Amino acid sequence: MTGKKISLNGISKRYGDFVAVSDMSLTVEPGEFVSFLGPSGCGKTTTLRMIAGFIMPDSGALKIGDVEVTYLPPNKRDLSFVFQNYALWPHMTVAENIGFGPKLAGLSRADIDKRIRDALSLTALSGLESRFPRQLSGGQQQRVAVARALALGRSVLLMDEPLSNLDRKLRVDMRKELKELQRRLNITTVYVTHDQEEALSMSDRVAVMDRGRIASLAVPEEIYRNPPNEFVASFVGGVNYFNGTLRHVDSSRSFFIADDGLEFHITRRENTPEGTVRLMTRPEWIVLRSGEDKGLNTHPVTVDFIEYLGASRKVSATTETGRKLLIQVHDVDPMSIEVGDRLTFHIAAQNMMLIK
Ligand SMILES: Nc1ncnc2c1ncn2[C@@H]1O[C@H](COP(=O)(O)OP(=O)(O)OP(=O)(O)O)[C@@H](O)[C@H]1O
Ligand SMILES: [Mg+2]
Repeated sequence: MTGKKISLNGISKRYGDFVAVSDMSLTVEPGEFVSFLGPSGCGKTTTLRMIAGFIMPDSGALKIGDVEVTYLPPNKRDLSFVFQNYALWPHMTVAENIGFGPKLAGLSRADIDKRIRDALSLTALSGLESRFPRQLSGGQQQRVAVARALALGRSVLLMDEPLSNLDRKLRVDMRKELKELQRRLNITTVYVTHDQEEALSMSDRVAVMDRGRIASLAVPEEIYRNPPNEFVASFVGGVNYFNGTLRHVDSSRSFFIADDGLEFHITRRENTPEGTVRLMTRPEWIVLRSGEDKGLNTHPVTVDFIEYLGASRKVSATTETGRKLLIQVHDVDPMSIEVGDRLTFHIAAQNMMLIK
């Protein structure tokens, strides 16, 4: 199987006066895994369903490979779809569910059986072929839905929140399985989720969506580490913002004074303006230290609240200037922290990022 390129060119969809998807353009490369990530109602499903052909766009054009498919029915688009609720046929066995598409396509019995066998083995379902969906666990049903999509032998795989019905542990296992399968098959994939961890861990690129538009499209590290704006920064993780003034010191360093007077040296990056700016840092990029610690980018802080999360602790703290900070302390740190402690925090120069 070789994936085909998907091209969206100015795709829009309105419901009455409401614009659900607005002038969306995007190219998904052959074999690439792209996620649509965003809050409820931002247009993820609508966009995916337009790619699939279940919803017709009001304007714009859509190509799969070199073929314009904007107004073609779903079965003429060389793609398959995995639904959030799996939509398995309850009266068919696992094998019949998987073989239904190939049968409808008029394949020979031998070819249908091979498709079923291959799909079962790819999704680790061999042995369960005669069961009915009601005799399967949620995770197994999810696998059948994927197997059924793969058995169609199409070049593009579209998935709408396929893991959201599973409990957390299974979801985490399945996302690795799905990703490995996708990589092995090299099938072009568009994946809808509102779970940031899922999007970051599975995707080659993530499209963060906001009110029918793409707020940012980039590789996961870039989305998390260097988000272009507040919406993207806050959607994918915890964040602290600093408004203030930036001056360049030399070719590699800049000096930042926050509006509450806190001073930081930060790494100078290309195209960084001087003057009024907004910076951001993630809670886990801040280091808490004992109260005596002094030095560059290190300031006093008082602990207000501690949330124990197992692998880490989320610490709310206030600086002497009255600024509230969110700091994540990983459990590798043996320091005991208590509410009321007067400590210092340190932010490394490369861990303050410019943001709009
Ligand atoms: N058939 C419809 N008629 C009217 N409005 C609709 C219709 N379908 C979707 N919408 C609206 O369009 C917007 C986008 O819906 P969509 O289903 O694409 O959101 P989503 O990003 O998939 O959200 P979720 O994470 O909740 O699934 C929503 O505000 C929704 O209410
Ligand atoms: Mg949806």
